Amino acid sequence: MIGSINHIAIAVPDIRAAMAQWQARTGAEISNIQTLPEHGVYVAFIRAENGKVELLEPIDDSSPIAKFLEKNPDGGMHHICFDVADLIASRDRLIAEGGRVLGGGEPRIGAHGKPVIFIHPKDLTGTLIELQQA
Ligand code: CO
Repeated sequence: MIGSINHIAIAVPDIRAAMAQWQARTGAEISNIQTLPEHGVYVAFIRAENGKVELLEPIDDSSPIAKFLEKNPDGGMHHICFDVADLIASRDRLIAEGGRVLGGGEPRIGAHGKPVIFIHPKDLTGTLIELQQA
């Protein structure tokens, strides 16, 4: 069972420039930058009325976001995150139905301090999907 959309993530080459652009061109309210070394990213959240958009900049070239930016140098939509009531049950269902979880399948703590998994884009409509324990 899939729940609400938690966030949509956009990869960017320069998070400060991206924040300035969003602020100036849309008037959006944006959080401070957080550093998440275990995910290899800097992150900031654009607040929308019904959710948030996450801006992601790679800390260095070893980040998975860096590979994405090689193919999309101007940045672009990177993933969609959904809340789920039972992350382990959702993962087990995905695997039973032939889907793959990135990084070996064990949940990791995501940007919001909650366990998350990522579904292989090739196994779900060509788009990276994150599931987060609600
Ligand atoms: Co995310």
